[in-house]
Amino acid sequence: MKKIYQYTAILFAALVLIIMAQLLSSCNTPGTAQANNQDSLATHADTLVKVDTSKMPKGKYGAAVKYGRDLMLHTAYYIGPDGVNGHYTGNKMNCTNCHRDAGTRPFAFNLVRSFRDYPQYRAREGRILSLAERINNCVMRPNLGRPLPLDGKEMISIMAYLKFLSDSSHTDSHTKGLKNMTVELPDVAASSDRGEKLYALHCQRCHAQNGEGKMLASNVSYEYPPVWGMLAYRPGSSMHRVVKLAQWLKGNMPYDKTTLGKAFLTDAESLDIAAFINDDTKHKRPAPKTTKEVDYPFYEEKAIDYDKGPFKDPFTEKQHKYGPYKPIIDYWQGKGITPAI
Ligand code: HEC
Ligand code: HEC
Repeated sequence: MKKIYQYTAILFAALVLIIMAQLLSSCNTPGTAQANNQDSLATHADTLVKVDTSKMPKGKYGAAVKYGRDLMLHTAYYIGPDGVNGHYTGNKMNCTNCHRDAGTRPFAFNLVRSFRDYPQYRAREGRILSLAERINNCVMRPNLGRPLPLDGKEMISIMAYLKFLSDSSHTDSHTKGLKNMTVELPDVAASSDRGEKLYALHCQRCHAQNGEGKMLASNVSYEYPPVWGMLAYRPGSSMHRVVKLAQWLKGNMPYDKTTLGKAFLTDAESLDIAAFINDDTKHKRPAPKTTKEVDYPFYEEKAIDYDKGPFKDPFTEKQHKYGPYKPIIDYWQGKGITPAI
């Protein structure tokens, strides 16, 4: 009898040891957890936002969709300063220079959901904007233009194209690339001086030392679009915000060194280069066309990296522009508000 007790006790002890060893091994090997994560990333690789633009609709509607797509790819040719179908945009950049692959590329200000997402409340204007109004914001701000007539062929075609993108894509909470890549915000401010050196190293060979890019031989549009200067996007464009630009740069530049979802620049480098490009003490940019430009009527709704006061918080224009951003975020969170970045 005594022996049986002893055996059971030994068996029990052994069992406890095995269970403990199992538990310890699963806690102590982060490598296992990481490998699992990567597996699930790999199996979700096909969840990158995607549209098959070879399957265009037919008929007259199809023709509008196609023209809308062409307008995004060859904006300057059709509606630029010397446009064959009208003179609307004020510089020779194409929509696709930022909304890459005509708005379909992941992590590049993707436009696949836009048709579904508007009308939408926009803090910048403090009211609800239609998709057409939002499109005109880009015609006016980064493209320095005058608004397209809301019922004109060009606006309707761009809308038809965005409707096609939305109709022919499936997106859900797993879909990646609808938003740009994220950058971690450091405890220090972004540095325009560090960014200047990095620009010379990684960007200058295409966008030029003077930031004005390189025209195509045809002079219709750019091989490498300008990143500052009087023909680049103007202050008030979202690209002029340091964090917003850094998020885009991380996923897209240098052009020949990034692949889908794989950055070349580190987060800190992206922020420093964005700080340099958007540093108005070093570079010129066009002034807004009208003085009655709407500019966040409700100051408390300003994006944290928007660089123009007045603000409803105690931080300077300089800190809003270059950071450190965390104290600003903490300040608003302390008031129960999640600020826009
Ligand atoms: C210099 C870069 C740049 C150019 C050129 C540009 N855009 Fe934009 N566009 C942006 C940025 C930045 C945003 C804001 C995206 C954000 O806040 O996430 C934006 C937003 C938009 C949106 C709203 C997207 C949404 O779902 O909220 C639309 C639509 C749009 N742009 C269309 C156009 C069209 C059409 C053109 C060409 C006439 C154009 N853009 C040219 C940078 C640009
Ligand atoms: C190999 C050439 C090349 C290099 C290097 C390069 N770019 Fe670009 N860049 C491009 C091209 C081409 C586009 C237009 C993309 C398109 O139309 O799809 C572009 C677009 C841009 C845009 C958006 C349009 C505009 O002009 O506002 C910005 C901003 C930009 N690049 C910044 C940078 C920065 C910063 C670097 C360095 C980190 C860099 N680029 C490196 C070729 C390059």
